[in-house]
Amino acid sequence: MSEVTDPRQVVLVSSREEMDVMGKKKLKDNIITLAWHMPVSFNPNLYAIAIGKTRFSCEIIKKSKVFVVNFMPFSLKEAAVFCGTKSGMHIDKFKEAGLGKEDCRNVDCPRIKEALAYIECKVVDEVDAGDHIIFIGQVLNSEFKKSGKRLLQMGRGFTTSAD
Ligand SMILES: Cc1cc2nc3c(=O)[nH]c(=O)nc-3n(C[C@H](O)[C@H](O)[C@H](O)COP(=O)(O)O)c2cc1C
Repeated sequence: MSEVTDPRQVVLVSSREEMDVMGKKKLKDNIITLAWHMPVSFNPNLYAIAIGKTRFSCEIIKKSKVFVVNFMPFSLKEAAVFCGTKSGMHIDKFKEAGLGKEDCRNVDCPRIKEALAYIECKVVDEVDAGDHIIFIGQVLNSEFKKSGKRLLQMGRGFTTSAD
């Protein structure tokens, strides 16, 4: 169906939670690449993301109930591919993808320094949608940092915006 729906803006969703990894408790900061996301309400201000049930990020966000949607520049395409093809269970995607970390203002979760814009969200609802969970987040803080060419998914590849 992607030939019908693409191009779609690609975002990186960051999350944080203490997780059980091979029997040990570890504070995990993770990043997942997503093309399925959208605003869903003005008042209250809500933003939804769809995450596959098998993703490590799904487990993290189910527990932490917070996430950050980071809008990325086209120039960081390789980082998006990395975060979109590896599980964060045993690796630190911030480190491996060379992405910087910033503390959020209103949620206990890291955001990505290189993002052009971001939205900090607290989960207010979860919808079981087939093989994905739709997390509906209340927007607690958002910022447009700078303009730049956005990263868009186009079939199996990528394209970009005019500016
Ligand atoms: C361009 C692109 C878009 C993607 N969109 C989604 C998406 O909308 N939802 C999803 O669950 N996975 C999506 N993925 C796949 C996940 O990013 C991928 O499975 C990732 O490795 C999961 O990481 P995690 O297990 O650390 O959470 C996408 C991957 C790419 C490369």
